[in-house]
Amino acid sequence: MYEINFLKNSMSVLYENMTFPRFQYILENIESEKYFMAFTASHDGEPVGLILAEVRKQDHSAELLSIFVETSHRCQGVATQLVCHLEKQLKVRGCKEIDLSYMTGNQTNLALERVLQKCHWTEPQPQTIVCKGRISDKMPWVTKHNYFHGSYSLFPWREITQEEKQAIEQQRQYIPEDLFPLQYEEDMEPLNSLGLRYQGEVVGWLISHRIAPDTIRYTCSFTRQDLQKFGRHLGLMSEAIKLQYEAKIPYIIWTIPIHHRAMVEFTKKRISPYLIYLREIKESHKLIA
Ligand SMILES: CC(C)(COP(=O)(O)OP(=O)(O)OC[C@H]1O[C@@H](n2cnc3c(N)ncnc32)[C@H](O)[C@@H]1OP(=O)(O)O)[C@@H](O)C(=O)NCCC(=O)NCCS
Repeated sequence: MYEINFLKNSMSVLYENMTFPRFQYILENIESEKYFMAFTASHDGEPVGLILAEVRKQDHSAELLSIFVETSHRCQGVATQLVCHLEKQLKVRGCKEIDLSYMTGNQTNLALERVLQKCHWTEPQPQTIVCKGRISDKMPWVTKHNYFHGSYSLFPWREITQEEKQAIEQQRQYIPEDLFPLQYEEDMEPLNSLGLRYQGEVVGWLISHRIAPDTIRYTCSFTRQDLQKFGRHLGLMSEAIKLQYEAKIPYIIWTIPIHHRAMVEFTKKRISPYLIYLREIKESHKLIA
């Protein structure tokens, strides 16, 4: 018989390994956290599972941040009970919707998807693809030269001028929100964050971040719409990869929203042979009102 309870501060240490490291601090003071909810599953007093959710401030919706059940207690309905309990408590609190996103490639994804199905969540849909690669001289981009010539010139993003930033700000309406570069400048990786000038004007960029000593994430990459071509897109990436290769930082990670269909297809077809993995981030939700 499994018992489901609100997590207490005093018990948090017993459950901290049941969520992602980035959420563990939340558990320490869970009783005073206004926007987080955590429920435990126990069996004869022994901790066996944890579910953690965040209630959004504005819109009466919540995000399921993590769910975990100890291996020896799996397939006995514990996760299903945790999800049901969470939904009930969120409803009491006035939430109308709950959602979840998770990355494919995990061994227990099928079990998670079955839990969602049993609880009548929507069929999970891919939103983004996540690519991770190890840079080597086998990648054609590491050795290929001259992507940019003529009126194009590359420059380190850290050298961009205030006037150029203002010009980008004025073009904001023509740049997809998630690709606007100035929001990503904090903690950017100076080694291979690059800008592209065309006839003296900044028309493209690749902004990267060091997410681990050996890994750089290519956070945002864009070229002006009228100049967009895969060659240029790849060119920016290729130049960034070369710089990273020379600096001996082996891993590269980047994401592509699924609606950039051509880019996703291109990546699956042409780039995936060079990747360690190509996974999807899927989303599912449920109306609980
Ligand atoms: C996902 C997880 C929470 C499920 O916990 P659980 O307590 O085993 O889940 P439940 O017992 O409630 O339901 C599991 C269902 O999946 C089914 N299932 C298990 N493995 C399966 C597989 N490989 N293929 C298809 N169905 C599978 C079970 O049969 C069961 O369905 P049923 O009740 O119709 O028989 C657990 O596996 C886990 O902790 N995984 C690691 C953490 C994780 O990945 N969390 C999700 C991201 S945050």
